[in-house]
Amino acid sequence: MTKAFTSVNIEFKGRSPATDILEKAGFEVVVEMPSEGWPDDETRQKLVDVEALLAGSENLNESTLDNARNLRVIARNGVGYDKIDLEYCTSRGIVVTNTPGAMADAVADQVFAFILALTRQIISGDRTVKEQGTYDVIIGEDLSAMTLGLVGCGSIGAEVVRRALGFRMRTLVCDPWVDSARITGLGAEPVDRDQLLSESDVISLHIPLTTENSGIVNRDFLFAMNEDSYLINTARGGLIDERALIDALRSGPLAGAGLDCQVTEPPTGVSLDLVKMENVIALPHSGSKTIAARERMSIWAAQSMADVHCGKVPKFVVNRKVLKNLALR
Ligand SMILES: NC(=O)c1ccc[n+]([C@@H]2O[C@H](COP(=O)([O-])OP(=O)(O)OC[C@H]3O[C@@H](n4cnc5c(N)ncnc54)[C@H](O)[C@@H]3O)[C@@H](O)[C@H]2O)c1
Repeated sequence: MTKAFTSVNIEFKGRSPATDILEKAGFEVVVEMPSEGWPDDETRQKLVDVEALLAGSENLNESTLDNARNLRVIARNGVGYDKIDLEYCTSRGIVVTNTPGAMADAVADQVFAFILALTRQIISGDRTVKEQGTYDVIIGEDLSAMTLGLVGCGSIGAEVVRRALGFRMRTLVCDPWVDSARITGLGAEPVDRDQLLSESDVISLHIPLTTENSGIVNRDFLFAMNEDSYLINTARGGLIDERALIDALRSGPLAGAGLDCQVTEPPTGVSLDLVKMENVIALPHSGSKTIAARERMSIWAAQSMADVHCGKVPKFVVNRKVLKNLALR
């Protein structure tokens, strides 16, 4: 039987709609979580006779895929595909798909968990109460008196704007690839980078990690932010120059940062120095880890795998060039 392999959990509250989709399409479904750190040699071994992969955070490139001769589709369980060598996959005729928008609610919620935790000292306040110390805490801030600036306004950015309206925040958006009318229609103001930096009290990143965006939040960016402002990163660690962020939090304008992702995950070296700072709240890349989001992602990914198996073009193809040489309808 044709094998579909998944390296992420696809069972929620005792049910697995993704397994149902895959089995109905004729796959034998193998679910195996990788060891911590997603080792490349393990990825390589497990994919030998697999036709369809529901992929988590493993590296998928020439060295991990060269033995996977039956592989036809990699369905990424998420939006980001920076761990996948798209050109190599295209050259091998492997369709790569993702699940854009499936986790937008979950990540947007997490952005506000960070903003509220930072502006109202939730973590240190909790510690103070439990340790029965002084009740003399620093005065917090009202979100309705603050301006939120977003870098990127795709699926997640748009959900963040919707939530910001509920908190009555003024919201600025810098995304040159999104129509100004769409941004205004959402209830935000389109701005350029300079206006975003000079007028925002909180800046939140919602852009992919591409070669152009790598390290885009550098020393210039961080030191041009407002005095006592906050940075939220639920996108990718590699967008930030972490050494510059440590300096900006220690002796620059930033009051705090909320980080769901780091350059090295789990954090080591500079990433570890950063997450250990008192004015940083760090989470273990858990932005999309809610039951509703995970179930939706697994269903969309499984559908893509079933589509390729049944000769259909899946809805969310990342490497569209690959379709030219395949007989999918
Ligand atoms: N923390 C998590 O668990 C988690 C979960 C899902 C996604 N993510 C990350 O969030 C990112 C955003 O997700 P999304 O679904 O909103 O993506 P999306 O593709 O819908 O939107 C990305 C937007 O960024 C814009 N953009 C790209 N480069 C830009 C730049 N330099 N300046 C301004 N705008 C720029 C694009 O025009 C696009 O509108 C993903 O790429 C992924 O890395 C993280």
